[in-house]
Amino acid sequence: MADTTGKGLAGVVVADTRKSKVDGEKGKLYYVGYRIEDLAEHASFEEASFLLWNNRLPTQAELSEFTHMIARDMTVKPDIIDVMRDLPKNTHPMGVLRSMISLLGNRDEETEDSAPEANLRKARRLLAKTPTLVAAWARIRDGEEPIAPRADLGLAANFMYMLKNEEPNPTEVDAANVYLVLLADHGFNASTFTSRVVTSTDGDIYSAVTAAIGALKGPKHGGANEAAMKMFMEIGGPENVKDFFEKQVKGEGRKIMGIGHRVYKAPDPRAVILKKHAKALADTTGNSKWFETAEKLDELARADEYFIERKLFANVDYYSAIVLYTLGIQPDMMTPLFAMSRMAGWTANIIEQWADNRLIRPRANYVGTIDEPWVMIGDR
Ligand SMILES: CC(C)(COP(=O)(O)OP(=O)(O)OC[C@H]1O[C@@H](n2cnc3c(N)ncnc32)[C@H](O)[C@@H]1OP(=O)(O)O)[C@@H](O)C(=O)NCCC(=O)NCCS
Repeated sequence: MADTTGKGLAGVVVADTRKSKVDGEKGKLYYVGYRIEDLAEHASFEEASFLLWNNRLPTQAELSEFTHMIARDMTVKPDIIDVMRDLPKNTHPMGVLRSMISLLGNRDEETEDSAPEANLRKARRLLAKTPTLVAAWARIRDGEEPIAPRADLGLAANFMYMLKNEEPNPTEVDAANVYLVLLADHGFNASTFTSRVVTSTDGDIYSAVTAAIGALKGPKHGGANEAAMKMFMEIGGPENVKDFFEKQVKGEGRKIMGIGHRVYKAPDPRAVILKKHAKALADTTGNSKWFETAEKLDELARADEYFIERKLFANVDYYSAIVLYTLGIQPDMMTPLFAMSRMAGWTANIIEQWADNRLIRPRANYVGTIDEPWVMIGDR
């Protein structure tokens, strides 16, 4: 009889990785040994991506060249953008992204070449083109023309520029950059594991990343930022939080989106950093309504026996929803931003999987009947 105690593969270790370490008991996260707090304070998203792909920090010259190459790779051909124009305007942005990344794979001459250098080049193109696709869809669905990337801007700044068609505001760019750095990798989360499963079949990088986008979309994973923001909006403001908590959470057992985590049984270090940025943005913009709503609900949960017993804390999606909304990101565009960031981790894990691959193929514990007598169709 197979062991099914690891339902949801909880606690199951399936491979070694040098990419990120999640210490759920202590609430610590490291990329290639570097503390997430240091990365959030000092690194650009490009620098964090270089680290994840190469297992070391770049020199200044390497980072400049790498940042420049990414800016150059951000361009997406007009005929690809035209495909987006034909999609129904109410298509979920994650559905659009999933299709467009898959399409990019059909247009990349190196798709079937999975040599390490080819995979690195494709990883760079994927990282670079995703923000362009995300920003283009945000504009197309609003009936506006997409904006081409600029060669002189880093990835976070370029994204804000392509989204808003205005000179990027440094405070906004910093917040977007911190967000992208913080979500770049996180052990064998559901979407990263999905990308590894596809890779383990000797599948190409585009197939692996397309599948990962599908896994990220759900509200138990990346979709939680969208779900959290919609929940804050439904609450409507800090004055309604207590009522929401008592009636819906305590009374009806409704889950608070953005709270709880499979691995963290201590505060999620990314949420701690993002909370500070959410507060700073609320102070600078003078719009503190959503921050206060989120903070008040978080405080009620943290003081409640049910949440304390289960060690449920705000996860990365909780305060990132406030950060992103303050940056002008609509709730359903939030998970695509998560994908923009996690693209670094997915591709790093795919490259690592290729370097030491074995087909990932677990077993199922069959619990049905056997040897049923065959009944002819006319007799059923
Ligand atoms: C993240 C999540 C899917 C983890 O799931 P999991 O590891 O399978 O943990 P469980 O769902 O079994 O949760 C353990 C217990 O805490 C409760 N719980 C978990 N998250 C909760 C939440 N957000 N609000 C209220 N209760 C919650 C569960 O009901 C369960 O209670 P029980 O032991 O009485 O049955 C879950 O916490 C969740 O759905 N959170 C909201 C969505 C979210 O923020 N996802 C993003 C994750 S980064």
